[in-house]
Amino acid sequence: MDRMTSEPLLSALRIALGPTGVLTEAVDLARFENGWRYGKGKALGVVRPANAVETATALRLCADHGARVMPQGANTGLVGASNPDASGAMVVLSLERMNKTIDLDLGNRTVLVDGGVLLSQLNEALKPHALFFPVDLGADPQIGGMVATNTGGTRLLKYGDVRRNLLGAEVVFGDGTVLCDLNRLRKNNTGLDAKQLFVGTTGLFGIVTRAVLQVAPLPRQRAVALVGCRDGEAVLRLLAALEQDLGDVLSAFEVMSRNALGPVFSHQPALRNPFGAALPAYAVLVELASTLPATAFAIGDVLEGTLGSHLEVDGDAVTDVFVAGGEEFWNIRHHISESLRHEGRTLAFDISVARSQLPAFTTTVERLLAQSHAFVRLCDYGHWGDGGTHLNLVWRDADAPRPYAAIVEELQPRIYDLAVRDFGGSYSAEHGVGPHNQRFFDRYTPAPVKQLGALLRQHCDPRHLLGTTRLW
Ligand code: LAC
Ligand code: ZN
Repeated sequence: MDRMTSEPLLSALRIALGPTGVLTEAVDLARFENGWRYGKGKALGVVRPANAVETATALRLCADHGARVMPQGANTGLVGASNPDASGAMVVLSLERMNKTIDLDLGNRTVLVDGGVLLSQLNEALKPHALFFPVDLGADPQIGGMVATNTGGTRLLKYGDVRRNLLGAEVVFGDGTVLCDLNRLRKNNTGLDAKQLFVGTTGLFGIVTRAVLQVAPLPRQRAVALVGCRDGEAVLRLLAALEQDLGDVLSAFEVMSRNALGPVFSHQPALRNPFGAALPAYAVLVELASTLPATAFAIGDVLEGTLGSHLEVDGDAVTDVFVAGGEEFWNIRHHISESLRHEGRTLAFDISVARSQLPAFTTTVERLLAQSHAFVRLCDYGHWGDGGTHLNLVWRDADAPRPYAAIVEELQPRIYDLAVRDFGGSYSAEHGVGPHNQRFFDRYTPAPVKQLGALLRQHCDPRHLLGTTRLW
């Protein structure tokens, strides 16, 4: 379909949704065609329905005219799953006009939100009530996209992922059926929990237009420390000690390797390096959070005391302890991926393994690189508290014997095989599935899961209208 043949569709959409509901000018389309970090495509047009009924109408019209549809939130995803393809024949269905409802049930500690509400917008609205949605990310996605991706982030250890905090959803299937399950119940064992089918499945069965979320009390106080560790095993012993002594209030346990940390201090002059020249093998950002007031619970003292006790038993393996860093330490953590990009070519992974396996897995990757790709540096960091590791491989073209694409082709399958087959891990721990990891979905997804998915797709989106990813 091109601009000429699409005119009947575009005018039908304009009649159904009104002039603000449809965009077709190149200048208006650009922001829907370019992803926040990754992804570039071309759209035939953008439809911006205001609710589920308009979403269903738009989908039916697109189906009738044979146009494929790319559902899109804030387009901040990291696997290319919200970008139209390069054909210029897809209609982007944006949730951005579904951004009005933020309906708080204070007594139930839940909120009904439109799918196009931004995470930051939701948290602004919750703040006066001393509440927040605790799925914490570097980006600012929309809620519908967060559900479709099942985002994780840096505080999953304490609060869980989207799945754990989602009580209800309104979903428009690819065929226009509206499933309105805006459940506000924490307990409901009445059979199939249908909304879960739309969590983490990338919008290929349907579009999440509203959601009911459980929200959390905003902590009154936080304490943050940076702890240097000699090796991965020392990091795991620190984690075990903190969970044992402070498990109720441990809210983040983020790990940065020396190779990930170095570039932050080289490229971000505004960020202070507390370690000096001798960076530790691993730096751990530990965060405690509590709703108790400081008069009842001196959170900074407790963190300092616990780290002090840990030093007494494992002092040889702990190289540094800096307390009271707050935002400064989080800033270091949040500048890693940007800093690595200044170092040369990067190949990023979003892997998880059982967290007890993280040191062995990381060492195996290091060994693999040393043997066959010595010009590649492993700059790993991640959410070790929940087994997540972002292995970033970095190299300079000048040092590489072959072009970037050839090296990616050599390394990506080997590392994924190692993670998934040898270590029983995941090739996409928290970024979801999309065109960027399509091949690996095909390779690792068990046949019975693919068959179930195909049945669901056949039911919800029989004309395969939604998305570019060929998952089912
Ligand atoms: C992070 C993103 C890449 O943890 O998931 O920084
Ligand atoms: Zn992450």
